[in-house]
Amino acid sequence: MTPLLLAYPGHERLAASLQLELRAEHVAFELRSFPDGETYVRIDSDVRDRDVAILCTLHRPDTRILPLIFIVRTLRELGARSVGLIAPYLAYMRQDKRFHPGEEVTSEVFAQVISRAADWLVTMDPHLHRRQSLAEIYSIPTAVTHAAPLLSDWILAHVDEPLVVGPDSESEQWVRSVAEAVPCPHVVLEKTRRGDRDVSVSTVPGIDRWRGRTPVLVDDIISSARTMGVVVRQFREAEFAAPVCLGVHGVFAPDAWETLKNAGAGRVVTTNTIAHASNEIDVAILLAVPVTGFLSQSERQPAPIA
Ligand code: R5P
Repeated sequence: MTPLLLAYPGHERLAASLQLELRAEHVAFELRSFPDGETYVRIDSDVRDRDVAILCTLHRPDTRILPLIFIVRTLRELGARSVGLIAPYLAYMRQDKRFHPGEEVTSEVFAQVISRAADWLVTMDPHLHRRQSLAEIYSIPTAVTHAAPLLSDWILAHVDEPLVVGPDSESEQWVRSVAEAVPCPHVVLEKTRRGDRDVSVSTVPGIDRWRGRTPVLVDDIISSARTMGVVVRQFREAEFAAPVCLGVHGVFAPDAWETLKNAGAGRVVTTNTIAHASNEIDVAILLAVPVTGFLSQSERQPAPIA
């Protein structure tokens, strides 16, 4: 049976391309806030015995998680056969250890909440640093997609003589595969973070060797943009062309855009895992593959005995 896609408001363009990729019908629903700030949910489509994929990126997660739980519960009460979650950006992945005494490891409790709500989870480039896989904290089937092939295609189409730059050792996993596919050289720097907005990054070793190339900074997340900002500044001070900033997830804290532009960044480009004016790369084609897999698995399950 045709799957259903329920797209949380705010990512209409990604929802439209995913709906095409999945050949899904959309779920009509109303989601709004009462004057007191509480959430109202109503599902208008018939979801009985249907497999539903919810598209809800988890950028600014605290405002989304409770409405999401209400939506999942309503779908189940209305008889949906399965309810999966497509969260192109998966939040709460960075607090993956107790850095200081008394801190909560929020990635774990967030994973428990999602695992209790959804039957499966599909995401893109989650921030797996100290953990190897989502299965360490998520108890539902999960699938991780990678934007790297699309980032390489974008660089190939838009940048002459690129030098791919990873701002920290964590970015090596993306940077290496992106550069190899272009193909072009890459360097990976070392970052020290002293606070949310206090970051320093090692200097580019033998920077003169790369003269004539356009630096393309690649990272999974652009949040405060302090990480990319200091690297941009370094290249501008060495009189390189304005670096291109390429991020998978454009989280963009309030002053992030200005931080990049004031540092001397050129184009700032992101994928559409989070809707933003910088979105130039559509990831629907990559997300659709595992989603289709989960939906067809559910289709093959025997019908429950009445
Ligand atoms: C962290 O390790 C990530 O890979 C990014 O480098 C980081 O999230 C970027 O954060 P910000 O834009 O706040 O410097």
